[in-house]
Amino acid sequence: MKLFVIGSGGREHALVWRLAQSPHPTKIWSAPGNPGISDERLESNGMPVENVPIGAEDLSLLLDFANEKKPDLTVVGPDNPLGMGIVDLFQEHGHKIWGPNKNAARFEASKAFSQEFMEKYDIPAPKAGVFTNPGPAGEFAASLEGHCAVKADGLALGKGVIVCTNQQEADRAINDMLVNGILGEAGKKIVVQELLEGVEASLHVLSDGESWRLFPASQDHKRAYDGDTGPNTGGMGAYAPASFLRNSELLETASAIIEPWINGCKEEGIDYRGILYPGIMLTDNGARVLEFNSRFGDPETQVYMPLLENDLVELLSACTEKNLKGIELKFNDAACVCVVKASGGYPGKYTKGKTIYGLEDTHQIPGVKVFHAGTSIQGNNLVTNGGRVLGITAWADTLSDAREKAYAAAARIQFEGELMRTDIGKKASI
Ligand code: AMP
Ligand code: GLY
Repeated sequence: MKLFVIGSGGREHALVWRLAQSPHPTKIWSAPGNPGISDERLESNGMPVENVPIGAEDLSLLLDFANEKKPDLTVVGPDNPLGMGIVDLFQEHGHKIWGPNKNAARFEASKAFSQEFMEKYDIPAPKAGVFTNPGPAGEFAASLEGHCAVKADGLALGKGVIVCTNQQEADRAINDMLVNGILGEAGKKIVVQELLEGVEASLHVLSDGESWRLFPASQDHKRAYDGDTGPNTGGMGAYAPASFLRNSELLETASAIIEPWINGCKEEGIDYRGILYPGIMLTDNGARVLEFNSRFGDPETQVYMPLLENDLVELLSACTEKNLKGIELKFNDAACVCVVKASGGYPGKYTKGKTIYGLEDTHQIPGVKVFHAGTSIQGNNLVTNGGRVLGITAWADTLSDAREKAYAAAARIQFEGELMRTDIGKKASI
């Protein structure tokens, strides 16, 4: 069986790593992939994974490639191609593809759609309003005393949420999006949400439109610096399982969100096949959905893949074929931690092309896997090529052992100006 994986980040490396361990694939292409991805070899025949130089948003070139090579299953990592309708396009041309179609991917592509859906189907969510005019948006923010999250409706490369703690900040955020157009089309419509306090967690639910299966809860660390300070990033590290949401509590929390969600999908004719990743806040009044994502989290995927015991090819195929009903998700009992090394300056300006040293020293450590995110090859050297560069991932019987192992491995790797948080999973392992 031949697989085609779209994307180039740490998430896609983790997916490819796990897909390559299945006995089913005899060939895996990745577009555009990264140097870590093309280092992976298929367990079935020892063949390396092949990177194809096509961007994840070049839908017509991706389709040309699929028409030529005829993969048996295409797996989509990032949100943008999903929001652009890659699933519909591939299906129209007879290709089997895993991920939500354009209609279903609106849960991430439009925050206004998600907010209105949550209200309509009684999904626990923050109090919020959807606005296109600054006047009413400002009045609503004032009713929250300026304590609000101002969110661009559309996809904005992780820059679409501004957290405000007073009216002045809220007015500035509202004006920046609706009047000054700093996010272009994505910010022409906004959602203003009450600002909630509590503990954040990531849920991941595999849905085939009828049945759903739950992953363990995980926790990302979005801020750039230790102690949850500094600017918001794509995610500086994650761990799973999240000890504050285990077993029955997790199932209860997820059911309160997913049961009305899947019923709402049926009602609206949304055939959601893929991963739904609700970002939630555990407040004193219960869990609330801050946002829905229509793909796997990054770096959450990096901590899920070492724990997942199912064959990932079979799992994603079953999801695509509306056949999840007979499948049980299985995870081992380990705990897993992923620590991100990023380029100095990230998420602001940073320099690329720094040589990465010491990575080969980590290859032989049992229970450690380094996923590539922003790397490239320059001459004979592996160099930095993005904000988030590597996800150093370790698993062990306890979370504190996994942390220790991840940080010990991270200490062997160096590049100039690197940025790394030293407290990933720390709060949870006390
Ligand atoms: P996002 O970029 O959409 O992942 O959101 C960035 C971060 O903003 C989230 O991880 C939360 O920390 C924060 N956030 C978003 N909405 C809210 C809210 N309603 N209340 C509190 N924090 C929020
Ligand atoms: N973990 C953050 C994200 O994937 O959006």
